[in-house]
Amino acid sequence: MSGYDAPLLRELGENTRRLNALAGQTPAKPQSTRIFTISNQKGGVGKTTTTVNLATALAVKGLKVLVIDLDPQGNASTALGVPHQEGVKGIYEVLTEGTPLAQVIQRSTESPNLLCVPATIDLAGAEIEIVTQVDRDKWHNLLKTALDDFIAGSSMKPDYVIIDCPPSLGLLTINAFVAAREVLIPIQCEYYALEGLSQLLRNIDLIQKNLNPQLVLSTILLTMYDSRTKLASQVVADVRQHFPSQTLNAVIPRNVRVSEAPSFGRTVITHDPSSPGAISYMEAAIEIASRGAQNGR
Ligand SMILES: Nc1ncnc2c1ncn2[C@@H]1O[C@H](COP(=O)(O)OP(=O)(O)OP(=O)(O)O)[C@@H](O)[C@H]1O
Ligand SMILES: [Mg+2]
Repeated sequence: MSGYDAPLLRELGENTRRLNALAGQTPAKPQSTRIFTISNQKGGVGKTTTTVNLATALAVKGLKVLVIDLDPQGNASTALGVPHQEGVKGIYEVLTEGTPLAQVIQRSTESPNLLCVPATIDLAGAEIEIVTQVDRDKWHNLLKTALDDFIAGSSMKPDYVIIDCPPSLGLLTINAFVAAREVLIPIQCEYYALEGLSQLLRNIDLIQKNLNPQLVLSTILLTMYDSRTKLASQVVADVRQHFPSQTLNAVIPRNVRVSEAPSFGRTVITHDPSSPGAISYMEAAIEIASRGAQNGR
């Protein structure tokens, strides 16, 4: 065997072992709906990729999942194969016109268990419309009211709701913080990874104190890990040291199958289930479910 083949064969063997381990695992159903917001005001750190892959992983394992696309870019809707061109009703109508969530929800092509509220480009103007047209004391509560109504009245009570936020700390993100119970922060294993994190933590603290006392930073997920760089392992070590109880053991590798999946209107979970990216997202989903069960969620 040549020296080039040995590491590749080792990786293939390792992937097979992890896939086999996953095949026997089923994520526990939470006691009540777990509502996550996937937040980081830094752009391009893997918020949307994490939203759609965790959601699909939980759904293909049998749980009922609702994704709320709260980013005018609509990237989560695209990855879940959900139409979101202009004219399609989505989260914009929910926030600005009070349309019930149930009227704008679509089923994802990724799994029959996976529903999605799409975002259209109209959402880009929603913050200004809300600020100018809605009473000030209701600005932050619009998504929570809509989601609570849906969960209370729906026959399809979701096990998980996952909200994909835009890369900013504006009114849309605040609505997600108020509607959610748990924050998941994806952190990219890059040099500037921790920059801006203290601002995000301060904002979460402000929301807890003033708008949503139930909110907890429950989960941190390291993304786009490149095992060839020393820097990436340094970021992993730093994050684990600062957030020992929140950081998942699962780390998402940089993997081209992950980044190409949205161009097929899919997630890597269905696009290439045996790729390292899909395996790692599946492991992260199982870990989130088992940590939730351990913490009585
Ligand atoms: N594990 C990965 N391997 C390879 N590419 C990845 C991985 N995770 C994310 N990417 C790619 O990195 C880019 C940014 O990811 P993503 O869109 O999920 O970030 P984001 O935080 O949602 O960005 P934004 O702040 O613009 O909403 C995308 O092109 C995505 O396909
Ligand atoms: Mg995004």
